[in-house]
Amino acid sequence: MSPLKAFLPLTLLAIPIQSQNQPISINVSANVPQEASWPVNHNFPSLAWEKSSFAQYSGNSTHPNLFSSSLVSILQRKVGTSLTIRIGGTSADQDHYNESQTVPVVKPNPPTPDKGLWNYSIGPSYFPSLSNFNTSKFIWMLPMAHARGLHMSEDALTQTKLALTNIGDKLEMLELGNEPNLYHDQGMRGNNYGVGDYVKEALKHEEDVELKANSSLPTNVKYQALAYDSAVNHHEWNTSAAFQDGINKNGKIEAVSWHYYQSIASRGVTLRNTLMNHTATTSKLSRFIPEIKWLNDRNDKIDFVLGEVGSVIAPELADVVQGVFGAALWTVDAMLYSMSINVTRMHMQSGSGFGYAPWNRTDVRPPFYAIAMVADFIGNDTSAGSAFRIKHLGLNDETLAAYAGYEGDSLERVAVLNMEVWNSTMSGERPVKRFGISVPKSVEKVEVKRLMGPGASSSGDVSWDGVKWVYGKEGAVEQKVHNSSEIVDAKAGRVNVGIPDTEGVLIQMLR
Ligand SMILES: *[C@@H]1O[C@H](CO)[C@@H](O)[C@H](O)[C@H]1NC(C)=O
Ligand SMILES: *[C@@H]1O[C@H](CO)[C@@H](O)[C@H](O)[C@H]1NC(C)=O
Ligand SMILES: *[C@@H]1O[C@H](CO)[C@@H](O)[C@H](O)[C@H]1NC(C)=O
Ligand SMILES: *[C@@H]1O[C@H](CO)[C@@H](O)[C@H](O)[C@H]1NC(C)=O
Ligand SMILES: *[C@@H]1O[C@H](CO)[C@@H](O)[C@H](O)[C@H]1NC(C)=O
Ligand SMILES: *[C@@H]1O[C@H](CO)[C@@H](O)[C@H](O)[C@H]1NC(C)=O
Ligand SMILES: *[C@@H]1O[C@H](CO)[C@@H](O)[C@H](O)[C@H]1NC(C)=O
Ligand SMILES: *[C@@H]1O[C@H](CO)[C@@H](O)[C@H](O)[C@H]1NC(C)=O
Ligand SMILES: *[C@@H]1O[C@H](CO)[C@@H](O)[C@H](O)[C@H]1NC(C)=O
Ligand SMILES: *[C@@H]1O[C@H](CO)[C@@H](O)[C@H](O)[C@H]1NC(C)=O
Ligand SMILES: *[C@@H]1O[C@H](CO)[C@@H](O)[C@H](O)[C@H]1NC(C)=O
Ligand SMILES: *[C@@H]1O[C@H](CO)[C@@H](O)[C@H](O)[C@H]1NC(C)=O
Repeated sequence: MSPLKAFLPLTLLAIPIQSQNQPISINVSANVPQEASWPVNHNFPSLAWEKSSFAQYSGNSTHPNLFSSSLVSILQRKVGTSLTIRIGGTSADQDHYNESQTVPVVKPNPPTPDKGLWNYSIGPSYFPSLSNFNTSKFIWMLPMAHARGLHMSEDALTQTKLALTNIGDKLEMLELGNEPNLYHDQGMRGNNYGVGDYVKEALKHEEDVELKANSSLPTNVKYQALAYDSAVNHHEWNTSAAFQDGINKNGKIEAVSWHYYQSIASRGVTLRNTLMNHTATTSKLSRFIPEIKWLNDRNDKIDFVLGEVGSVIAPELADVVQGVFGAALWTVDAMLYSMSINVTRMHMQSGSGFGYAPWNRTDVRPPFYAIAMVADFIGNDTSAGSAFRIKHLGLNDETLAAYAGYEGDSLERVAVLNMEVWNSTMSGERPVKRFGISVPKSVEKVEVKRLMGPGASSSGDVSWDGVKWVYGKEGAVEQKVHNSSEIVDAKAGRVNVGIPDTEGVLIQMLR
């Protein structure tokens, strides 16, 4: 650990100046309220990789990518459990296997620009990469786009067998296809392809894998189904239709997955309008509430998962919207709001060159700091008596978001985001909003931890709880960039906390 002296002046400059305005009051129930979420699974902040990029991120059995594995470990330590890694995506549905290829992955040449993730070629040396991340769990996607009739293709079977051998007992579930509602548009199926057709194919795929790839399958294999794309029409493709058509006929569905991007195109997208906008985030995510309630009412404990999540699909916005600090604030907001409406797990998507990727080959990117904050919000206490529940606190302002976190019956943490735009290019002093937050009677002090960055459009110098992480061949290197310990005394049952524009805080009750 060697503090980077060069960064110190920058972060010191960001120390808040107090504004004179009345504090914004946030009243938080000391005990868990009725409308809080159900107990949060500690693996909520999980990960996902586009199949074509995974080997690069993972390394293989003899040359593991220690940078990646250390970042996964950092998050796992924070939540006190294993995270689940989903490997899939369009590249997994559209690739093919070449037995005589020596390298793990070959990009299509020439590339087809409108089909960026299509037609990658996978060789046998891809699969040892799956032996890594040996403290995590895996979801392996069964491709369905090129099904043979209703059945798994030979290519899919071959790859699945190799994958299962290497994943071994880390397998949590198999996933049935990817974004099947797009198969027709992708030219893979007929005009009338619908939920019923997908369900028939998915059930045949369950049967095929259990008969033909069963040497490394656990006896009680479970599946994640649906994997609808982010722009799916809920009136045509939804959870109830799939269950009515028999998706859980064999009783082996453990989770349904929907994909989520705040926007799937760049038109009209800006940081402020699209991501640093609590109203936009909560209103779009709220569309899942009926789906979740429907599953919940069935009482058979099937999880609702967001299985592939990113801010905006728009490579041209990588440095402007996706990979900057403002998008990190969105990431926290979207994750905490999802948790509050009973989403069970969120798989934050990664891939080579993806702007919203939490890290790449050489850098820890702003979204990682957001996931780290969410992980600390959940905490590492996995004991039954400390079941973690979250409640969204409506503040009626597009740029403000707040959440309360309970362990057992008592308020432990509050997260507040100030998404008013501050840009490092602006002149003058960075405005600070003051908040008066009620705390339980037993709390005399709180600790304030900050998600900080120079401005909404900055990609560098982001820190969480006083720390930034940089690349190291033997694993990410933690650097302390400012004092993380900020203790605030409660006065008359409230704590006063200043949050500069474009910053987030986690307030930990101290007892
Ligand atoms: C919060 O509580 C304080 C003190 O009880 C009260 O004055 C204030 O109106 C409340 N604010 C809101 C937004 O409910
Ligand atoms: C792992 O990758 C390294 C470097 O790319 C390569 O030399 C080695 O043969 C690979 N090992 C396996 C088991 O594939
Ligand atoms: C498979 O890989 C080998 C070795 O790289 C290559 O010569 C061959 O053309 C590939 N086959 C196809 C169908 O791409
Ligand atoms: C995919 O690549 C293979 C060679 O590797 C080629 O034969 C095939 O035509 C390509 N398919 C598409 C849809 O581009
Ligand atoms: C897990 O992977 C790490 C490298 O990432 C390796 O050092 C360790 O030996 C592995 N443990 C097991 C049980 O395979
Ligand atoms: C495994 O597959 C073989 C056929 O390849 C089949 O005979 C056997 O019953 C299967 N075992 C299980 C446990 O499903
Ligand atoms: C779910 O989808 C089916 C068609 O697959 C449709 O008939 C039904 O109305 C949809 N349900 C809702 C709530 O939109
Ligand atoms: C924030 O999102 C809401 C809901 O989508 C939208 O009505 C509003 O115009 C957005 N705000 C800005 C500044 O674009
Ligand atoms: C989440 O689950 C809890 C506990 O079952 C329930 O009280 C609450 O209404 C649910 N929230 C939503 C948005 O469905
Ligand atoms: C990785 O991300 C950093 C910024 O977060 C960027 O500067 C760099 O170009 C990226 N590298 C690659 C290979 O995409
Ligand atoms: C759990 O988190 C707390 C608070 O951050 C920390 O003090 C403690 O050391 C952690 N425990 C473990 C086992 O990591
Ligand atoms: C920050 O400033 C840059 C340069 O002037 C500008 O391109 C960018 O849009 C600004 N960001 C926001 C969120 O307003």
